[in-house]
Order: sequence, then structure tokens, then C-alpha cells
Amino acid sequence: MPFHRQSEATDGMNEARMRRAIERKRDGEPIGETEWEEIVLAYMDERVDDAQMAALAMACVFRGLTTDETTALTKAMAESGEMLRHPNGAFVVDKHSSGGVSDTVSLVAVPLVAACGVPVAKLSGRALGHTGGTIDKLEAIEGLRTTLSMDEFVRQVERIGCAIAAQSEAIVPADKRLYRLRDRTGTVRSTGLVTASILSKKIAAGAHAFAFDVKCGTAAFMSNVDEATELGRMLVEVTARFGRKAKAVVTDMHEPLGRSIGTGIEVIEACEILREDTVDKRSREVTLHVAAAMLELAGVPEPRAAAERSLSSGAAYEKFVEMVRAQGGSERALHDLELHTRREVARSPHGGYVAAIDGRTIGHAAREWSAAERGAGIQMLVRIGDRVEAGDALAEVYGTHADASIVARAIKIDETPPPPRALIYATVSS
Ligand code: URA
Repeated sequence: MPFHRQSEATDGMNEARMRRAIERKRDGEPIGETEWEEIVLAYMDERVDDAQMAALAMACVFRGLTTDETTALTKAMAESGEMLRHPNGAFVVDKHSSGGVSDTVSLVAVPLVAACGVPVAKLSGRALGHTGGTIDKLEAIEGLRTTLSMDEFVRQVERIGCAIAAQSEAIVPADKRLYRLRDRTGTVRSTGLVTASILSKKIAAGAHAFAFDVKCGTAAFMSNVDEATELGRMLVEVTARFGRKAKAVVTDMHEPLGRSIGTGIEVIEACEILREDTVDKRSREVTLHVAAAMLELAGVPEPRAAAERSLSSGAAYEKFVEMVRAQGGSERALHDLELHTRREVARSPHGGYVAAIDGRTIGHAAREWSAAERGAGIQMLVRIGDRVEAGDALAEVYGTHADASIVARAIKIDETPPPPRALIYATVSS
């Protein structure tokens, strides 16, 4: 009916048009760029309600989003809030992790790259489910502020070369609403929706190039290498549509990345990596890989060697201390971080090989204990593939309520050794 069509075209998105968009998506047709813009605007204005948005998200989960649709949704979401600009033409880089356990990569890679002369601007999130949040970890440092105004954030990057701050309410408010809805409606698992969610926040934070650390394994958002690589490919491809550079690395998350799980306890481990006095090489290796990707994107020659020099010279640690000071903390506060005095040991019930580690259970437990008390958390003493005897220590748990039996049950010991696994599965470049 002509009258109806006319009113739809001039009134923007409304309930009837949204219903037709949902039906088209349900039947496998793509949604156009202007329509995605209208949908996001209408959802923010509450002209589209949660019921319709959830139905559309579910149709996206089943039908997928094309690269064009993902680009349009990313743009519409990024433009739902403040868009940062870094002044003076500096080429600024950023990194993103899809979420893991004992993932201290940001705490180390950000100052490491900044110490090589490449500015890094990173807005981070809090813990989600069993995965840790960089902001919660930084807040374990006495006095350190993570709630910088966006102006302070940009100026700190300009002045000292790096900042890690909490995502402000003003950045991509559409993602806050939509992510909460997806979490409640079982619609998180869609490569297009995840890409738009992650990338809209990165685009709005203003960097020119992004390294994506896509975690893959039983303790990650994606457990299958092909799915994780596809997410990496989509992130890189859509980033290119915005005229920015990206590289994605798919890294192992079948077990905690480092040894420590919690908040302050992970900052202690990050400082050990920064000072090169760690005995564990897994976390250091993934961090160097991600940092080298960031340096490569910024055009630094021989990026891996530059990243290693930044650690071995002490420059990365000095830059970390400078960033901590700039945000209200101190080196003294870093030295004051210590493990809780109450400790229990998780022991192996019999001899064999460590066959699997349930990172989800371990991540949830460490999150709960370390949120309640300073210095609480878990320190793993074994890796998948290690040989253990009956009674050997598998892990230490710290905190008044820390329960070693939970961690012992999360570590599976078998008679035969598990097959070896890679640490870096794939790399996707633009
Ligand atoms: N992380 C995000 O920021 N968004 C998603 O949709 C999934 C993981």
C-alpha cells in the first residue's frame, strides 16, 4: 500500500519494518547498510524493543552475517557513542584478546610496544564469566585509576606512549545494551555479531591498527581452530574496510596461559615477565608474538627482535611503571603485591600424565576468590603433558575461602600422555 510504504520510508525503523527485517534475515536475505544503521538507532531510542532485537540476533546466529553486513553493523554500533581521535598524526596501535584464563598479554604487551616508540591506546573490560579482565587486574595495584576521562586517556597516550583504561559509558553504548541482551538470549555465538561487538569498540577508541589475539580451546570462547581462524579472518577483513590495519593470531587456551590466575596474582606474574625473571615460557611467547604483530603493523623493522630487546633491556618494565604512576599507582604498590598468607595445595590422586585442565572451573574459582580478597587466587604448578606421581603438588590456592579440592578435580590425570598441541595455531594478515 503506497501510504504505508511512504510512511515507513520517512519514519525510519519501526515495529512493522523491524518485523520484516527479522523475517528477511530468518529467510537468509542480507540486511542493507542503511537498515542496520536504522536498527541500531531505533534500538538505542527504544523504538525497537529487546524482543525484536533478540529475534534478529537469533536469526543472525543461524543465518550468519556477510562481510558487508558485519561492516555496516560495526559502523552503526561504533557511531552510537563517542569516537576518539588521537592528535598530531601519531600512528596508534591497539590489541584485543577474545578472553582467556591467566591472560596477562595486555599488561605486558602494551608497555613493551610503547617502549619501542609505538603509541598504544587500550580500552579494556572487566572479567566476563570464567575469563579475567585487565581492568580488575590493574585495580589490584593500590592507588591506580582505570576510570580515565577519554580526554585524559588520549593525552596520556600522547605524553607517555600508552594507557590502559576502562571502557567509558560513552564508547559504543549500543554494544553494552546488545551484548547484555545476547548474553541473556544465547545469541553470543555468531562470528558477525562478535566481530561487530569487538571491532566497534576498537574503531571508536581511535587506533589505526589492531592485533587480535583470538583464543582457541576449552577455556576460550571458541574451542575449534577453524571457527577461531574464521573469527580472526572476519576481524581482519572488516578492519580493512575501515581503512585500518590488522593482524590476528589464533593462540591456545586449552589450559591457563600463564601460571597465575586471579587479579593481583596475575599482576605479579606480568611483572615477572616484564623483568624477564619468569621460568614459564608460554605466556611470554604468546605476549612476544602479539607484541611483534603490533610492532609489525606500525612498520617497525624486525619486530620480533625489537620486542625481545624491549623486555631484555628493562625498557618494557620501566614503561609499565611509568604507566602505573601516570594512572595514580606507584612502583612501591607493585612491590607490595603479595600472595595471601593462607595456602592450600592441590595434589595428584595417582601417578600419570596431566591430560586436561578445566580452565573454566579454575577461572571461575580464581575470579570468585580474588574478587573477595587481595592476593587470593591460584598458582598452577603443572602443564598439560607433565608426568606426575601420586601426591605430587598440582597447584597452590591462596585465600581464606580457597579450596584446593576444586582445583584438584579440574585437573585430569591419565595413564597415557596426551598428544602435543601447538601454542600458536594460525595467523591472519590483511
Ligand atoms: N567479546 C566482545 O567484546 N564481544 C563479543 O560479542 C564477544 C566477546
